[in-house]
Amino acid sequence: MSKHLVKFLPDDISLTVETGTNVLRAASIAGIEIKSVCGGKGSCGRCAIKVQQGQVRLEGGNRSKKMKEQGLNLACQTFIEGDVVIEVPKDSRLEEHQVVLENENHKVLAESELDLLSGYEFKPLCRKVQLTLEPPTLTENASDLTRLQAELRQKTACKELMVELPVLQQLAEALRQEDWKVTATLACMNGITEIVQVEPGHVQNDGYGLAVDIGTTTVVVYVVDLATGDLVDSRGTYNKQARYGDDVISRMIHAGEKNGLDDLRKAVIGSINELIDKLLEKNNISPDDVHVAVTAGNTTMAHLLLGLPPKYIRLEPYIPTATELPPVKARLLGININPEAWVLSFPAVASYVGGDIVAGVLAAKMAKVEMMTLFIDIGTNGEIVLGNNEFLISCACSAGPAFEGGGITFGMRAMGGAIERVSIDPETFDVSLMIIGNEKPIGICGSGLIDCMAKLHRVGLIDRTGQFFRDKDTPRLRKSEDGWEYVLAWAEESGVDKDVVITEADIKNLLRSKGAVFAGIQSLLKSMQLDVNMIEKIIIAGGFGNYLNVDDAVQIGLLPDVDRDRYEFMGNTSVKGAKLALLSQDAYKECKELGHLMTYLELSAGTTFMDEFVSATFIPHTDLTLFPSLN
Ligand code: FES
Repeated sequence: MSKHLVKFLPDDISLTVETGTNVLRAASIAGIEIKSVCGGKGSCGRCAIKVQQGQVRLEGGNRSKKMKEQGLNLACQTFIEGDVVIEVPKDSRLEEHQVVLENENHKVLAESELDLLSGYEFKPLCRKVQLTLEPPTLTENASDLTRLQAELRQKTACKELMVELPVLQQLAEALRQEDWKVTATLACMNGITEIVQVEPGHVQNDGYGLAVDIGTTTVVVYVVDLATGDLVDSRGTYNKQARYGDDVISRMIHAGEKNGLDDLRKAVIGSINELIDKLLEKNNISPDDVHVAVTAGNTTMAHLLLGLPPKYIRLEPYIPTATELPPVKARLLGININPEAWVLSFPAVASYVGGDIVAGVLAAKMAKVEMMTLFIDIGTNGEIVLGNNEFLISCACSAGPAFEGGGITFGMRAMGGAIERVSIDPETFDVSLMIIGNEKPIGICGSGLIDCMAKLHRVGLIDRTGQFFRDKDTPRLRKSEDGWEYVLAWAEESGVDKDVVITEADIKNLLRSKGAVFAGIQSLLKSMQLDVNMIEKIIIAGGFGNYLNVDDAVQIGLLPDVDRDRYEFMGNTSVKGAKLALLSQDAYKECKELGHLMTYLELSAGTTFMDEFVSATFIPHTDLTLFPSLN
């Protein structure tokens, strides 16, 4: 098969690919991440590129009129047939800086306030022990390992001390290099202690650990100093698996294709390694000094990290290969830290309530307090946990992609250019917008959508079913080829040279999403015969809460109408739980128990959820007594 030179602009990156490679794939090999919401199926229209020169073959796909006018093609439907030069516009790229980390967010409690470790002893999963051994003699002739283990048993309470071959292979020289002075790094998990490193001399630092949140959309890594428990640095980026589809379902489908599972495994490891490399270099930390990593992700992400096929997670009756995942050495996963470091995964509850939620429940200390707590993580799947120190029950409802901007005409994630707040004048129906990054508006993110729907309803532009009142006198309300829509930003004010609108179809989509979440909450409450007023605390987890206005969310019927001071935003609880487990052996033990403790309510079994869902697809609900503050 012949090969061709592909040059990407403005990056000025060139590479050689085989005839027939599509541009999306070539860009990915070149390290250029192009948006591919539909996973390269040609339907989302997000992967626009321009062929500046050279021979390509074009297939079908959903190319808008405007794209055609601008000479843009879909990267996933453009196949390389000769040497080519391809321009990737800014709008088509996934950029690392677009990932908003919680510490940039004013609403999330600062970590000191949160006091993550309260209730747990500070006892990290790894620690270093300095030793001075008696040198062997002809009469004291125990082996190197026996000598080391005996000294460690004396200095620590550890009885069983495991060691793996790579450490053993280095042991003899390490002991003798500094005249029998050494530093042993011990990993303590599940009652087992392993010597994961033996360094010559007395090393002063206690090493580092990583807390890793593997989200479907983003990956976040915290570097934590194991001596102090302090966060050294953190960084987030897009999950490179996005090139195979935006949501877990597309990833699962890709995993079933030839080499698909390996593609996905390598992509997520690539994302994690990219963050680790940058963080360690910036903070002048050697990869060898990172001795443990705790990861938390949804069940599919955890499977893909370990190369487990997620096929049966998708198919009824939705069974994962494992909910408790074994620790794996970094060297076996290809993670760029000490090869002997353990990489640990949080246990899942079920296929759609994963380790990220268990980590969140751990960080929120739900199992430790009497207070009846509702934990909500809203994304494509709304995961909800209800309970306290007596019981914990969880469910997952398919909210659809609307809260992350999917399926919405101008939907986008919460990044620069996204409309996050909307105000509408009740007299003139004119609009003021708040945009993330103070940029020109290019779309609207999930919290912006909720705000927008709440305001449209408040000023009387839409009815309780989400339909526009056609008779309102404003140029912003109009009928287009695709139905009724309301203009949020005129083309001249926008960053996309066209009117940014919200359509009636968008509103209906959002109604279904919010209805699913509220129905999930109601189903959990009913299953425990509890009333919404019995909830003493509601924790909103995840990036979605970053910009969310609770009043708006209550007004559209997404969240329960209880005292607003019962709401708490905890940001990325997944990475916080991972950090807690990293710093406390008891917390790590507890997370394993939590996986068993949490009951899973399958919403698709029985009729409660469907009945609740139908009632919840109105603004705010068919039963207005559930929303007393709005009456
Ligand atoms: Fe190309 Fe969706 S249209 S990735």
